[in-house]
Amino acid sequence: MAYARLCLWLRLSEFSDKYNLPTDLSLSVFLWVNMKIYLININDVTENELNHWFDCMSDSRKEEVRNIKNKSKYVSKIISDHMCRKAVSEFCGIPENEIVFSKNEYGKPFASGTNAYFSVSHSGELVVCAVSENEIGIDIEKKREIRPDISKRFATDSEIEYIGNDTDRLFEIWTLKEAYFKCTGTGLGADIKTVSFKKTEDNFVCSEKGYSIAKLDLPDGYTGFVCSKE
Ligand SMILES: CC(C)(COP(=O)(O)OP(=O)(O)OC[C@H]1O[C@@H](n2cnc3c(N)ncnc32)[C@H](O)[C@@H]1OP(=O)(O)O)[C@@H](O)C(=O)NCCC(=O)NCCS
Repeated sequence: MAYARLCLWLRLSEFSDKYNLPTDLSLSVFLWVNMKIYLININDVTENELNHWFDCMSDSRKEEVRNIKNKSKYVSKIISDHMCRKAVSEFCGIPENEIVFSKNEYGKPFASGTNAYFSVSHSGELVVCAVSENEIGIDIEKKREIRPDISKRFATDSEIEYIGNDTDRLFEIWTLKEAYFKCTGTGLGADIKTVSFKKTEDNFVCSEKGYSIAKLDLPDGYTGFVCSKE
């Protein structure tokens, strides 16, 4: 049932057409009953927006970002901070400039003093952020050529069998695992093979009870999942 509920999402543009809501062209928002997912293509962000969002970051985040040499990583990090701020602000009704981010011992970010859980992921030209009243993890990957045997590093025997030589499937399992461990908050410091995902007719089931999975509807060339603790 949780899966059915999680699949009831609409693209904001579709939502806007139906309900006359404003559409922000640089920002697509996917809606679930108790979850919102924001997506930004870094190429849609203007220099002015980027400078403004940089100014809104904490001093420690500015320091972290200044040290990034790769331009798209630099841009993604600034966008990521902005999206988390906007997502939590909209979710909790708190002004963006009052939101203070902290991290757990494994690096999972949270917004101090709020009841919002959020998770962010960046890959290629996309940055996504999910916000919810439940613990969540989101992960996307831009698909690329990769040796299928790399799956041995993170996949269980049954997952390796599912993947075979199929790169799309490899990225499915990859992003499922990342989303799950971002949801639990331990990141990949935990043993990745302690959890396993099994393909069903129209979704994946997690070997650990109490987690809902949903595949994201991303532009061509990307794979991603969101994992939510029920
Ligand atoms: C850091 C990690 C949580 C995600 O890394 P990633 O997939 O490379 O990067 P993503 O863009 O998807 O996620 C980065 C975000 O994860 C968040 N994050 C970091 N540690 C986290 C944790 N323990 N739990 C949840 N979220 C975490 C941060 O918000 C970060 O955002 P920021 O970079 O804007 O600060 C971790 O899973 C990792 O080290 N991944 C390495 C990738 C890999 O080898 N995967 C193998 C296949 S399973």
